[in-house]
Amino acid sequence: MIYTDELIEEIRLRSDIVDVISGYVKLQRKGSSYFGLCPFHNEKSPSFSVNPQRQMYHCFGCGAGGDVFTFIREYENYSFPEAVKLLADRAGIALPQEEESEGNRRQRDLRTAVLDINRTAAKYYYYLLHTEQGGRAMAYLKDRGLTDETIRRFGLGYSGQYSNLLSRYLKKQGVSDALLKESGLVQLDEKRGMYDKFWNRVMFPIMDVNSRVIGFGGRVMGDAKPKYLNSPETVIFDKGRNLYGLHAARSSRKKNMLVCEGYMDVIAMHQAGFTNAVASLGTALTSQHAILLKRYTDEVILTYDSDEAGVRAALRAIPLLREAGITTRVLHMEPYKDPDEFIKALGQEAFQERIDQAQNSFLFEIEILERSYDMKDPTDKTRFFRETARKIAEFEQEIERENYIEAVAEKYRTSFDGMRKLVMGWLMQGAPARKQPARRTDIPKKEDGIGRSERLLLSWLAEYPQLYPTFSSRIAPEDFSDELYQKVARLLYRQLEAGKPNTAWIVNQFEDLEQQRAIAEIFHTEVRVETPKDTEKAILENMRKVMENAVEERSRRLDPADIAGLQKLIAAKREIQELGRLHISL
Ligand code: UTP
Ligand code: MN
Repeated sequence: MIYTDELIEEIRLRSDIVDVISGYVKLQRKGSSYFGLCPFHNEKSPSFSVNPQRQMYHCFGCGAGGDVFTFIREYENYSFPEAVKLLADRAGIALPQEEESEGNRRQRDLRTAVLDINRTAAKYYYYLLHTEQGGRAMAYLKDRGLTDETIRRFGLGYSGQYSNLLSRYLKKQGVSDALLKESGLVQLDEKRGMYDKFWNRVMFPIMDVNSRVIGFGGRVMGDAKPKYLNSPETVIFDKGRNLYGLHAARSSRKKNMLVCEGYMDVIAMHQAGFTNAVASLGTALTSQHAILLKRYTDEVILTYDSDEAGVRAALRAIPLLREAGITTRVLHMEPYKDPDEFIKALGQEAFQERIDQAQNSFLFEIEILERSYDMKDPTDKTRFFRETARKIAEFEQEIERENYIEAVAEKYRTSFDGMRKLVMGWLMQGAPARKQPARRTDIPKKEDGIGRSERLLLSWLAEYPQLYPTFSSRIAPEDFSDELYQKVARLLYRQLEAGKPNTAWIVNQFEDLEQQRAIAEIFHTEVRVETPKDTEKAILENMRKVMENAVEERSRRLDPADIAGLQKLIAAKREIQELGRLHISL
């Protein structure tokens, strides 16, 4: 169902963002904005801001943000039409009929119900862990070195001594048999009837990025088999698309992510301060995992087990991560088996050292390759070099190939020229190019200085529409360095031509949640200054930066024969010089 722009705007007008979000998050007024604890990441002091003028929200901690529709999509994990429906219902606006098929609605209700059951179960397991019958489980966790704080933070629990505690508890709450089955927490057996999937196990709730429980892992407290049981796939649980620990790791503010194999590894790393650790859930890393990770980082450090299986898992993961645009390094765990054991034995600092020393994934791949050759045998050794050269030839860029030739030549003490000739040989034969990391170019990088200046300008422009003539005569939308910012500028300029800006509407012109976030960030960019005079100074300063950057960019691309272009460039340079005489007043 496609809704008209008018209808969406009417719903927005009648869904004040402060009002709506207040239903989910406790907000407090601070100046012209409202602040609260971000519902999308764990935090102790509020960095989640809601701006009533702009009708947008933005978290300065984890970067979540958007308009009222984005919020509902992110919080409820809804599609856009689902969010429209919820807000329309809330505002008492009738939607055109047949908007949602019966099947869709049933599916959505089912998901909500199963989420509910999982949350109830997690609370129940947590409660049991703290009762007398949970004593042994608690002792087990303590024995593995977990603190109360860690147990709380990961919501660990115990599934009880009997195999029907949970199903009895849920049934008492009125949950139907059909739903119990859908949840994957209860099983049906001809002989035994209904019984719990998990009992007498230590329970690890698995959460999605928004901290909602979507499944469980359960570990025996000894050596029995199977060591871990996991929730089956359900309407809300898809192993290939979720990573254990991501809800906490996403807001760790570290520059990379640590990817490991197990529940206990994630927990041990977080407890030691490595809060950027995640694990795929007892399955191999998938390309969907890689794409998910790319939302939060550009670099992954694999902290897999040091055994054969761990090496195989790493070799499989590296190309998937590369395809998602992530560079990978591999951490050497020897002589320990996994992060949990390593940290227990050598402590946090030693682990940090290993992180710092983690090996480039290509050199790791080569090192593993080496194992299948007898390097003492000249023929075999040559074969190894030829194979290595073939892999190097897959790199698209010459500089990258040279760097690897150099690294390999040095590591295996062979000549750079010899190695390079081998690589050239493969190139002549047309070796297939290695897929370049597919960098997401539609989401601007946060760190760059010019990006910040551009965000500031757009944010000021939305705040002080009177600046529009001053801005638009000097800076065109194309002058922004990033494609997304260009699009936003175009939309904002168009609104200002017609009158008032509506930034929340701009957010809504973009489907993608990542883009919506980036836009919310733009309109929450501010500088802290004391007086209007300082603001004016800051505006001029940032205008200058953006103009200078645009001129530089244009002169780099200018065709020397393009006389008209050259003249424009000179005019633009003059304008920059004249900025010193420009006065603006707010
Ligand atoms: P490991 O066997 O390496 O266990 O399995 P671990 O994580 O070190 O566990 P502890 O330290 O003995 O408690 C790694 C991961 O593989 C999955 C789990 O997700 C586990 O964390 N797994 C393992 C299963 O799903 N089932 C199993 O029987 C074993
Ligand atoms: Mn372990």
